[in-house]
Amino acid sequence: MEVKSILEQKKEWGCLEIDGKGNLLSASPDFFQHFNVTPSELRNCTVNEVIKYPAFQSSFQSILQKPVFFGTVAGRSCLLRLTREDDRFFLHVLVDQDEVRPSDILSFAQSLAGTRKREAALGYRYSFDDIIGESPAAKQIKELAARVATSSSTVLLTGESGTGKELFAQAIHGLSTRKHQPFVAVNCAAIPDELFESEVFGYEAGAFSGAKKEGKPGKIERAQHGTLFLDEISELPYQAQGKLLRVLQEREIERLGGTVSKHIDVRIIAATNRDLQALVQEGKFRQDLFYRLYVFELQIPPLRKRKEDILPIAHHFIHHFNGELHKNVQYISPSLEKWLLENPWDGNIRELKACIERAMNLADSDTLTLESLYLPSFQGAEPKNMQSVDEETAEAGLSLKEEVEKAEISAIQRALRQCNGDRLLAAQALHIHPASLYRKISKYQLK
Ligand SMILES: Nc1ncnc2c1ncn2[C@@H]1O[C@H](COP(=O)(O)OP(=O)(O)OP(=O)(O)O)[C@@H](O)[C@H]1O
Ligand SMILES: [Mg+2]
Repeated sequence: MEVKSILEQKKEWGCLEIDGKGNLLSASPDFFQHFNVTPSELRNCTVNEVIKYPAFQSSFQSILQKPVFFGTVAGRSCLLRLTREDDRFFLHVLVDQDEVRPSDILSFAQSLAGTRKREAALGYRYSFDDIIGESPAAKQIKELAARVATSSSTVLLTGESGTGKELFAQAIHGLSTRKHQPFVAVNCAAIPDELFESEVFGYEAGAFSGAKKEGKPGKIERAQHGTLFLDEISELPYQAQGKLLRVLQEREIERLGGTVSKHIDVRIIAATNRDLQALVQEGKFRQDLFYRLYVFELQIPPLRKRKEDILPIAHHFIHHFNGELHKNVQYISPSLEKWLLENPWDGNIRELKACIERAMNLADSDTLTLESLYLPSFQGAEPKNMQSVDEETAEAGLSLKEEVEKAEISAIQRALRQCNGDRLLAAQALHIHPASLYRKISKYQLK
């Protein structure tokens, strides 16, 4: 029998209510009846004790990602369906049918998760609902963005690093009539100059040595009928600027080494965190291209100019990381709230997100505190020790390199001590990549 028709029959054998950690909160009367268990047997149980999953999804956390799956309840193989209401989950135990094949489940689950999947396949994930902030500044910019989204006008997103330009670009695409067409992002800073043209404009067979035999469409062509997001447009190589301008003016594209041009229909959204006008004045950005892009500018305000958004965004990320790190943080302590509101947030929302992630890693209760941040007090901690290092090194007459290494060793040891030997946390506290910490630990042969 097809999964869909089984589910449609709604032959539910009962339902379990579970919290985000997998603790059983309640069960429906028909569950007790069908599986011949009593409420006292289920008291204080976790869902893992009641349902056994196939080996490939061995934990409750992994099934949170799956809307439909197989499991065994009281020795019977069942089809289970997971639904969610706020922070509670409901596991509907549907049938114990052997004729449902795992592959059917997979395709059915994919069709359930269809919308988000389709969006991801089309290259975008975020919508206006994901843009948190109800401050007047945030509201105004969201309204403007939503209004321009419906047209096909070129949009230039400006704003400091980490303010959410990419998020806006995706949301605008998702609200436009092109939403069922591709959203293709090009990070102009990330593609080496020599590859830029072939990547963006594509090439014909045999255009250059090393080119694919059959040629390759460029990103512009792949965005046909959809949206082309030109991120960090200020970094576009000067030569490519001229070529892009031609595409925008003539709406035609010619691949490298090609002889025919193709009509293209793409909506352009460009983003920059640099002052394009100043770059034009310095002769680094073409003025004609600037005016082509400068049709509708959306200036995303920095976080420090919309302080009302700080706490709602912080809570949004807490919720996000609760899921990712399997925590259950609900509150922010008053001292941390005060600190969050006063911090300048030069790195804007990206910095706030990293900060919450760091704190969430260290959180061990339902409240995030200032201490969970291991803040600068950490860098300034143990001033006496630092001083003694200085004196020692001065006495010993070490070279600069040796002095730096010594300071590095002592900072790493201190971080490891403060994080109880947890290397991931220590790396975060030191603001370095864990891989880099591992390298240093092995280089200095630290414990
Ligand atoms: N209003 C918001 N609500 C929730 N998350 C946000 C918001 N704005 C930004 N973010 C998140 O902050 C991070 C940084 O955003 P994004 O990458 O869009 O910034 P950006 O302006 O493109 O930065 P850059 O100029 O450095 O590329 C992302 O993880 C994004 O999802
Ligand atoms: Mg960006």
